[in-house]
Parts: sequence; C-alpha cells; structure tokens
Amino acid sequence: MTRDFRTGGDPILDNTLNLKRDSEWKRIRTLITPTFTVGKLKRMTPLILKCVDTMTDNIDKIIANSNGNLSAPVDVKLVTSAYVMESMIQVAFGRKVSALADPNNPIIENFRKFFDFNVAFLTEFFRDFTLSLIDDRKRDLETRSPVKRVDFLQLMLNSMRDNNNEAIDGSEGYTDSQRAEKYREIQPTADMNDKSLSYDELIAQCVMFLTAGYESSSATLSMCLHNIAKHPEVQHKLYEEIHTFHKQKKSSTDSYETMHSLKYMDAVIDETLRLFTSPIARERVANEDYELKGTGITIKKGHLVHIPAYAMHRDPDNFVDPESFRPERFLAENIAHNPYTYLPFGAGPRNCIGMRLAQLEIKLALVNLLHQII
Ligand code: HEM
Repeated sequence: MTRDFRTGGDPILDNTLNLKRDSEWKRIRTLITPTFTVGKLKRMTPLILKCVDTMTDNIDKIIANSNGNLSAPVDVKLVTSAYVMESMIQVAFGRKVSALADPNNPIIENFRKFFDFNVAFLTEFFRDFTLSLIDDRKRDLETRSPVKRVDFLQLMLNSMRDNNNEAIDGSEGYTDSQRAEKYREIQPTADMNDKSLSYDELIAQCVMFLTAGYESSSATLSMCLHNIAKHPEVQHKLYEEIHTFHKQKKSSTDSYETMHSLKYMDAVIDETLRLFTSPIARERVANEDYELKGTGITIKKGHLVHIPAYAMHRDPDNFVDPESFRPERFLAENIAHNPYTYLPFGAGPRNCIGMRLAQLEIKLALVNLLHQII
C-alpha cells in the first residue's frame, strides 16, 4: 500500500520524498536513506550542537530581560521553533543562521514563507540558493583543500558522485524483532537503474528537510518542556539521569554514544509523542485489493485507509490510564503495548525518514537545557 497525495504542481515540491508514489518514491527513498544512518548522524551532531548554543544564549537573554521576574511567562515555542529552524538549515545546507537575532536573513524569511503558503517564492528562492551552494562547493573542490562537510546537501552530492546506494537496515539499533520490523528500510533492487538524483530532485529533498521536520520537531520539544515543567517528579528523575550523564561524558570521546544511556529521557520523549502525536492520523492507499485475513474485510484498490494514531495512543485497551503522563511505561522493563498501537513516526517502509534526526535534535536540546538548570 502507498500513501495518497495531492500535489499543487510546484516543480520542486512535487519531487519531495513525502509526495512521491510507488516506484518514483522507492527510487528516491533508497537514494537518500544512506544519509540518515547512525554514522552520518554522529557526524552531524557537532552542527546541531552549535544551534543548541544559540538556543542557550537566547534563553539567557530572555532571563536577563526579565528584570529578575523569573515567574513571568515565556513563549517557549518561539525559542524551540528558532532552534529547530536553525538546526534544519544547518543540517540541510551547512549554513549557520540565527532565527531570533537575525529575522531578516533571507534564508529565514523564505523558510517562513512556506508556512504562509507562499510556495512559489519559497521554492524559487531555495532553488537558486541550493544551486549557488553547489557552485561554491564545486569551486571549493578545485582549490585542492576543500572543506569536509557533513550536511545533507553534501552527503547527497557525494552519494551521486560515488553512485553509492549502500543498502542500510533502518532497524539498526533495535534489539526486539517487532520494533526492528516496524522500522525496516527498503533495500535497493536490481530494477533500479537510475541511481542519481536530478538537481530539481536534490533541491526538493533539501526543501523537504525544512518543511517535513520543522513543526513536528519544534512542537514535540515544546511539549516535552511543558510536560517536564508540569511533572516535578519527572523533572527530578531527569536531573539525576543528566547529572550521571555529564559525569560519564567526561570520560567518553563519543557524545552520541553516551546519549544512548539516557533511557529515562527517551521515555519522556516517547510519552510526549504518545499524548501529542503529530500529525494525528496516518494514511495509506491500497495499490491492489487486499484481504485482511480472518476479518471478512477486503480493502479495495484505490481506497484510502485512515489510521487514527491520536485515538489509538489514547485508547485504554492499548495503554493503561492513557490520559496520564507516565514516561515509565516506555522503559524497556515496562513496555506492554503492541508496537503497532504506537505510531508517532508511522511504521513500515514509509515510516518517518527523519525519526532519528528528530530524536537527536530533541535530545541534544533537552540535555543541554536541563543541564543549565542543575
Ligand atoms: C518529532 C518530529 C517528527 C515527527 C513526530 C514525524 C512524524 C512523521 C510521521 C507520522 C510520518 C508518516 C509516517 C507513516 O505514514 O508511516 C512522517 C513521514 C515523514 N517524515 Fe517525519 N516526523 C518528524 C520529524 C521529521 C524530520 C526531522 C524530517 C526531516 C528529514 C522528517 C521527514 C519525513 C519525511 C520525508 C516523511 C515521508 C517519508 C516517506 O514518505 O517515505 N520528519 N513523519
């Protein structure tokens, strides 16, 4: 089954992964999947950490401007949106911008236009911008001492140059077989002859980065902060975990690996995504008649299947006391739900390709914000 899409005829947006179907989707997904491996994310971590520093500075400024009134409300979504916007631009294009300090920066202005539905201007700007970056990098290569870049644009250019569509297993890192299956990646097949992206396709995937991950990641980070603030007992456990983490980090060279020890923080993010899943439903369209064995139900070719994730996440048959915020339910020793009743990033071959990146961005922000408070 594939997903159903309605496109507006824009030459860039029509090429984004999330709007593609069938063999065209499969080709692009297989080509860009290797840019999301754990190894690549590790290399992107320093880029994201630069944006965490800017976020911390922004918070310091808010505190300094509060004239000692620390109980004044803070629009935390403004801060998290700026952080996610900056890190998306950094990770997609390798450009450092400051969304709050420099709101008139053309990259920021054009990014915002997307959310005003000013799509034509947006894609025109990002087309020219990406092509100029590609030109700069080609010139860079000719200077013999090119800068080693690990942003998404560069990784895609490298993979096109090397004609590399290394097969990866999206389930890497999962020890239980059901979760591994849920996130298993599709593998390149022999019928995939065209192993490169056109420039429009390449630009489209960079734009997809900005659009697909922005609102979902910044809203999740805000909701995590909201839940942590509302649940002092959760806050306390997180402080303890982060305190231990910072002691361990000093003795480890790999901050990405040590981040994996933050199991309670993972549970806080998982529980936030259970209660506040975005988007609220997943959709698939049947490519052929499909009989659901043992139910007497056949999904007809072309029919849209609507999967109500928000309702499933709050169904007492799936989660005990579903309206309560209880991160403990996601600790390995307590997990009791069927993995397919929990779909914050979807499931199957069309699951969220940015899942690990989003989790990394959220985690890096939380660890650093909470460490400031300790
Ligand atoms: C907390 C943050 C995020 C949430 C909750 C989220 C959630 C989702 C969900 C529910 C889907 C549909 C999956 C399905 O139908 O099975 C999806 C798809 C997708 N997401 Fe995310 N996402 C997040 C962050 C990101 C980021 C950072 C990116 C950037 C690369 C991204 C890129 C995509 C793309 C390209 C798809 C379509 C995949 C395909 O059709 O092959 N997402 N996301």
